[in-house]
Amino acid sequence: MDIRDYPEWEEPAARLVEAGGSILLIGATDTGKTTFCTLLTNAALAAGRRVAVVDGDVGQSEIGPPGCVGMGLPEKPIRALLDIPTSALAFVGAVSPQGHLLEHATAVRAMTDAARAAQPDLLLIDTTGLLRGPAARRLKHAKFSLLAPDYVVALQRDRECEPALTPLKYAERAQVLRLPVPAVIAAKPPALRAQRRAGRFARYFLEAELRLYNFDDVAMTGTWMNAAPSVAPHLLRFASNALGVRVYHAEQCDRHLGLVTNALPAGDQGIGLVQEQFRAQAITITPAGRLRHLLVGLADGNDKLLGLGLIEAIDFRRRQIGLLTPIRAPAAVRLLHFGILRVRPDGAEVGTIRAGDV
Ligand SMILES: Nc1ncnc2c1ncn2[C@@H]1O[C@H](COP(=O)(O)OP(=O)(O)OP(=O)(O)O)[C@@H](O)[C@H]1O
Ligand SMILES: [Mg+2]
Repeated sequence: MDIRDYPEWEEPAARLVEAGGSILLIGATDTGKTTFCTLLTNAALAAGRRVAVVDGDVGQSEIGPPGCVGMGLPEKPIRALLDIPTSALAFVGAVSPQGHLLEHATAVRAMTDAARAAQPDLLLIDTTGLLRGPAARRLKHAKFSLLAPDYVVALQRDRECEPALTPLKYAERAQVLRLPVPAVIAAKPPALRAQRRAGRFARYFLEAELRLYNFDDVAMTGTWMNAAPSVAPHLLRFASNALGVRVYHAEQCDRHLGLVTNALPAGDQGIGLVQEQFRAQAITITPAGRLRHLLVGLADGNDKLLGLGLIEAIDFRRRQIGLLTPIRAPAAVRLLHFGILRVRPDGAEVGTIRAGDV
C-alpha cells in the first residue's frame, strides 16, 4: 500500500501529517477509511511523528478482537491496522453500534482518552461505516462532542456525509476535510466481512480456558442477573408451577422480576399469576440456552478491560458462572459486561439477543 496509488489523497495526507492533532475519519462502508488511516499512519511515522490509532470499528476490528474498540501506538510501518499491537481495549459487546450507541460512544471516548495520555503528535480515529439514518447521525454528533477532534475527514463518493456533518456547520475549532473516494477502493462482499470476523474470533479464543467466577466475587452489567438477592426456593417453585417451565433462578429488583428458565412458557396464562404474586411491573424470562456462548467483557475493578469471554455454563445452585477466556490474569476480574452477540469458540456467530433479554 503506497500513498502514490491514491493520488487524490496525497496532498491532504501530507497536510494532516504536517498539522498534527486529532483526526476523526468518517464515511459510508467501503469508502477507504481504514486504508486512509493506514496510509496516514505510515506517512506520519516516516515523518518521525508519534502516532496513536483508535479502531472504532466494532465489526471489522483490526486493533483487538471484534466487539471491542481498540487502541494502539504503532512504531514501525504497517501493512494494515492489524499489524498494530493492542495497547488498550474497551468492550462494546456488539458488532455494530446500532442499538448500542451508549456503549459504543463510551468505548471510543475511553480509548481516545487512553491514546491522548500517550501524547501522540497524530491521533487517528477510524470508525464504522454507519452513516445514514437518525441513529447514525446521533452517534456522529456524540463523537464530535465527546472526542473534540481537530479534523474530521469525510470520505464520500457523492455528498452522503453531509447530513452527519450538520453539527459542524458553524464549528470554529474542528475543520472538515472532504475527500473523494479513489476508484481503486472496492466494496467488500458482506460474506467476507462475516468470514473475517469469524476468523478473528476463532483466533482470539483459540487458547481459551474455562474460568469459574462466583456471583459474590464479581459484578455484572448488561444483564438483570446478580443485581439483587435470589428469590427464595418456595417462590421459585411457585413460579415454575404457574409458568409450566423449570425456573432455575429469579431475582427481583425494584418492580422488575427476572427469571432464568429451561424454556419459554407456552402461553401467557401463568405470567399474570407470577406478576401478582411478586407485585412485579415488568418480567423478563431468560431461557438458559440464550446465555450460552454469549460474549462477555472481563474487566478489573477499575473497569480496565482484560479481554473477552464466552459463557459456557451457569450453575445457579453454586452461584457460579463459567467462562471460556484466554485472558492472562483471570484472578483480576471483578466486572463482567454482558454483550448481545453469541459466538461459538470456533468463531461462528450463533446470533444476537435483544438488549435487556438477559
Ligand atoms: N489499492 C487498492 N486496490 C484494490 N483494493 C483496494 C485498494 N485500496 C483499498 N482497497 C480495498 O477497498 C476496500 C475498502 O477499503 P477500506 O476497508 O479501507 O474501507 P472502509 O471505509 O474502512 O470500509 P469499512 O466500512 O468496512 O470500514 C477494502 O477491501 C480494501 O482492501
Ligand atoms: Mg474500515
